[in-house]
Amino acid sequence: MYTAAVVTVSDRSFRGERPDGAGPAAAEMLEAAGYQVMERTIVPDEEEAIRAVLVRLADERDAALIVTSGGTGFSPRDVTPEATMAVCPKLVPGIPEAMRAASMAVTPRAMLSRAAAGIRGRSLIVNLPGSPKAVRENLEAVLPSLAHGLEMLRGGPADCGTVTESAAGPGQ
Ligand code: MTE
Repeated sequence: MYTAAVVTVSDRSFRGERPDGAGPAAAEMLEAAGYQVMERTIVPDEEEAIRAVLVRLADERDAALIVTSGGTGFSPRDVTPEATMAVCPKLVPGIPEAMRAASMAVTPRAMLSRAAAGIRGRSLIVNLPGSPKAVRENLEAVLPSLAHGLEMLRGGPADCGTVTESAAGPGQ
C-alpha cells in the first residue's frame, strides 16, 4: 500500500468561499485504489505556497504519490504546473499526455489543461485540473499505471515485462 497526499490549489477554496469538491473526489478514488491518503490540504494559487507544500509532502512526509487539483488552466493565477516543474528534477510527460489524450474523448477543452507530472526524490507529483468531474476523468486514465511507476521509484519488485490487466486495460 502506497501513501498519497491530495493538494487542492484554489484561491476561493483556500478563503472558504467555495467548498472543495476536487480534493475529496481525488482522495476517494485514491482510497478505492488502495492508497493510504495521509493528508489533504488546500493552498491558494501562489507559486511559492504550492512549491512549499509539495516540498513538505515529498521531503518531510515522504508521500509516495502527491496529487494536485486546479491551477492548470490559462488564467493569470494558474501556476500549479510551474510550481510542480520547479520542485521536480525529473518530469514525467507521459502521465499528462495520457490524461489529455483520454480527456479529449470527453471534451475538446481537455487540451487547455497545462498539467505536469514529475518526480521529486521518492515522490511522484501529478497535476489534475480543478473541477471534481475533471479530477475523476483524468485520474481514471492514469491511476492503474501509477503503482508500477511507484514500485520502480521506491525500489520494489517492479517487472516491466509483466503487464497486468488493470495496468494495460481490459483485453490487452
Ligand atoms: N479534462 C477533463 N477530463 N474534463 C474536463 O472537464 N476541463 C478542461 C481541462 N481538462 C476538463 C479537462 C478545462 S475547461 C480547463 S480550463 C483545463 O482542464 C484546466 O482546468 P483548471 O484551470 O481547473 O486546472
